[in-house]
Amino acid sequence: MCGIIGYAGNKDAPEVVLKGLKKLEYRGYDSWGIITGNFDLVKNIGKIGHIQRHDLNLRVHTLAIGHTRWSTHGGVTLENAHPHLSQDKSIAVVHNGIIENYQQLKAMLQKEGFVFVSETDTEVIPHLLQKYYKETQDFKKAFKKMLNKIDGSYAILAIQKGNRGIYFARNGSPLVLGVGKNEYFVASDVPAFLEYSNQVIFLEDNQYGTIGTEEIGKEIQIFDLKTHKKIISNIQTINWKLEEAEKGNEPHFMIKEIKEQQETIRKSVEQSSETFAKTVSMIKDARGVFLIGCGTSYHACLSASYQFAHLAKMHINVVLASEFRNYTSFLNSKSLIIAVSQSGETADVIDAIKIAKEKMVKVLSIVNVKGSTIERLSDHCINMQAGPEICVVSTKAYTAELAILSLLALTLTEKIEDARKKILENISCLPRLIEENTIKLKKLAEKIKNQKSIFIIGRDIAYPAALEGALKIKEVSYIHAEGFAGGELKHGTIALIEKGTPCIILATPETRNLIISNAMEIKARGGFIIGIDQEENNVYDETIIIPNSGCGNALILTIPLQILAYHLAVARGCDVDKPRNLAKSVTVK
Ligand code: AGP
Ligand code: GLU
Repeated sequence: MCGIIGYAGNKDAPEVVLKGLKKLEYRGYDSWGIITGNFDLVKNIGKIGHIQRHDLNLRVHTLAIGHTRWSTHGGVTLENAHPHLSQDKSIAVVHNGIIENYQQLKAMLQKEGFVFVSETDTEVIPHLLQKYYKETQDFKKAFKKMLNKIDGSYAILAIQKGNRGIYFARNGSPLVLGVGKNEYFVASDVPAFLEYSNQVIFLEDNQYGTIGTEEIGKEIQIFDLKTHKKIISNIQTINWKLEEAEKGNEPHFMIKEIKEQQETIRKSVEQSSETFAKTVSMIKDARGVFLIGCGTSYHACLSASYQFAHLAKMHINVVLASEFRNYTSFLNSKSLIIAVSQSGETADVIDAIKIAKEKMVKVLSIVNVKGSTIERLSDHCINMQAGPEICVVSTKAYTAELAILSLLALTLTEKIEDARKKILENISCLPRLIEENTIKLKKLAEKIKNQKSIFIIGRDIAYPAALEGALKIKEVSYIHAEGFAGGELKHGTIALIEKGTPCIILATPETRNLIISNAMEIKARGGFIIGIDQEENNVYDETIIIPNSGCGNALILTIPLQILAYHLAVARGCDVDKPRNLAKSVTVK
């Protein structure tokens, strides 16, 4: 899930690439590296941090490629950091993805005398390019031969000493071209070059080409890998503003994205009615609907299943995307899957969609990143309109997903205008909720930051909220946290409760009596009870008061948990926006 960027133009390429890598670091940050057109090379372990252009021992050049890594094959070492070079040091490559047949290729190349210096799968690419260039004396032909030799997922950038131009290829990992005035960009994601251009071409799988070659009129060339026909792609304008991909006055993207949720939810639900109308008819026509997602997006799916049950009296199946392949026997041409994914690039979701399409299943998706693979694989797609979500930990995308799914559930039985109004009324409390509770949650974080475990329980729509809150706490503060259904407490988990164990109780008007009984049982065993509720209760040692937002409660309950997770991470000195071992988009299975 790493980030790659290439630049060919009239600016100082190392500067453009360094800035782009900083914008892509949310995709992976084990190590990073840059190589320029005169093959000056810099590589480092760890995050880019405050490195500036003047810290780089790279001469000015108008062409460069760069990489920020999330390791899949080979540890976090300098040797494994990208770019990777061919044996004769004339070719350099950066890669996002997994070369699934790299072991066979490596063995073949080693037999031919190629010496490998890294443990990565990627390193087979530059050596193959050297081998095929020697055979063909034509780098484009060598590039095509290499692409036809490798299997797996990839977004590749390659440069050759003395050859003006960056060669790119995409299959299974995202890659987008940016078009400027006599300058060209190619990167994993738009924020990498948004500062310079919002004119983009989203590449499709099995496409390759070049940017920046000196042949007039051939500054951008895209070809189909199967037919080798030239492709004329339309340039799209991205409506994201640069500041949306910046932190503004906030110390971290996470808190910025938490605070902008009222605005992002409004944008999500205020899209044209036509956008939702087609979706509603697809749901109504289907015989068997499956909501699929991973991680936080899966929690949104689970929460939505309660909303569809309560608001539309409709049963919807919820399946982890990685488990979907085990449900295919139920699928037929009347089935519908609704794939939920912020990045639109999650490998498990893409895998599930491809399996579903083989069974002629209709595919609806709800994604945030425009032009993403999942959007393109879908029969119909609703964009979350939440703007770039830079923090690895998903917050505003989650509530956008909840809002859109709630709107769909409501629209099955009432006019969309009424549904929209209901949702917007429910979230009008958000800014005040954040304002009034932040200090208390910050103090609470200080109090429980050294705990071994934190438990969160809820019932009905508060159960998915408990799962989501636990995931937030785990992934950003590294404290073990577990969310579970209140009714499950006595079926095992209560054995873990010790004196002082923090247990967060998520209460709704419909479930309060039962969940308070659970709280009492935990309290009787010494637990420290934190209530997130619409009212005080003497079982609570701490209370976070939230408004009763009706069908918006699923969303509102999550906000204090997001803020608590954030302050736990800050209190523990964690890297809030780039937690260890994680990446924003899991583009490998
Ligand atoms: C969320 O905080 C996590 N970073 C992770 O669980 C994420 O939700 C999951 O990887 C799915 O990502 P997607 O929404 O882009 O498909
Ligand atoms: N498989 C390559 C490596 O391990 C790229 C990893 C990635 O795309 O995150 O270096």
